[in-house]
Amino acid sequence: PASAAEPRAGELTVGGVPLAEVADRFGTPVYVLDEDEVRARCRTYRQLFPDAEVLYAAKAFLCRAMVHWVAEEGLGLDVCSAGELELAVTTGFPPERIVLHGNAKSPRDLDTALRLGVGRIVIDSPSEIARLAAAVGPGGHQKVMVRVVPGISAGGHEKIRTGTDDQKFGLSVTDGHAQHAMARILAQPQLELTGLHCHLGSQITGVRPYLAAVRRMTGLMARLHAQHGLVLPELDLGGGHGIAYRPGEPALDLTLLARKVRAELVEACAAAGLTVPRLVIEPGRAIAGPAGIALYRVLAVKRSGPHTYVAVDGGMSDNPRPALYGVRYAPRLVGRPGTAVPAPVTVVGRHCEAGDVVAADVELPADVRPGDLLAVPAAGAYHLSMASGYNLVGRPPVVAVADGHARLLVRRESLDDIRSRDVGL
Ligand code: LLP
Repeated sequence: PASAAEPRAGELTVGGVPLAEVADRFGTPVYVLDEDEVRARCRTYRQLFPDAEVLYAAKAFLCRAMVHWVAEEGLGLDVCSAGELELAVTTGFPPERIVLHGNAKSPRDLDTALRLGVGRIVIDSPSEIARLAAAVGPGGHQKVMVRVVPGISAGGHEKIRTGTDDQKFGLSVTDGHAQHAMARILAQPQLELTGLHCHLGSQITGVRPYLAAVRRMTGLMARLHAQHGLVLPELDLGGGHGIAYRPGEPALDLTLLARKVRAELVEACAAAGLTVPRLVIEPGRAIAGPAGIALYRVLAVKRSGPHTYVAVDGGMSDNPRPALYGVRYAPRLVGRPGTAVPAPVTVVGRHCEAGDVVAADVELPADVRPGDLLAVPAAGAYHLSMASGYNLVGRPPVVAVADGHARLLVRRESLDDIRSRDVGL
């Protein structure tokens, strides 16, 4: 993160707090979240996209403090469950600034959304239309968008690509499902179609897929205009803005994205005779990811074959991303100067699986030993939010750092927490 500075060798400080101090005070593994960095990233989006509605994608990471920060910085929220929605609204987030997603919304998701009064619900399948219309009831009113599959392949890994046909998200334009769904929505007086949505995938590092999406989506809007005389005021291009997980890796250039998307949108609308819709974007990772660090304590170091394995006190239960997507991280030794020459090691987790790798083939000082602290940057998104209960180790806490102070946001999951759910014998 931009705010990370090194006053002394090995003493990595974030938000004015040495990471070693956080580890001593709150234990490890622990996530450290740089509040100023989160806020700065929200502000950057607002500045770069002044006419757009910026929704923070809650699935990347959510807790009550995050809800506050996002609200204060003027962003909206993209949620995909009653849980995310209730946490946000009960923390005071204005429901009209929330958009509900989901390819399989449960009755509870829909009921909660209607009860709390979310701004828009994104329709993802044909059957949802009748369900939602019935739940809204005659005389009721709900704004909706339709999630369209634009037929664009983009994203850092096959498992996080969502822009092409033949998949579980959205409605295909190619085979007419999206158009059919829109006609059905228009026939429901209690549903107001405000716009189209698409989400191409995640970890996208170039602007071109977004420009292609603008062209496809405005093309579709033009056809809807011609066929139904319909003018849709919103175009939601989803999230997926890529970040660097290791030094030197590319990240999406947000300044370029903002400029090019705007220009493309204006041009495509002019060509199609459309009023320029209001842009909506849904970045998650690019807001929370670079603002978070995962801190681990080394528990064991051993050599096996040609490799040195450095085992830490966390792993795939707090970060399944290396196992799921083969993502590479760059851990750093913190808390003491690494005097020894760097040597190649594989950092592994504590779980009962050979695939439990934190960072394969990375360089750490050759004298790395039990008791050392390792910091894994870019751990703010899709770490805790995807953490599991594997091996009953308990999910790590989240500590916010700002202005030289550290404060606990989410406490460590204890055995009592785990036991309290275990109610049968
Ligand atoms: N909008 C929609 C509709 C989404 O499905 C997502 C992410 C986002 C926005 C935010 O995407 P972001 O800007 O954070 O890339 N677990 C995976 C990422 C899956 C993302 C799913 N949807 C990972 O750890 O990389």
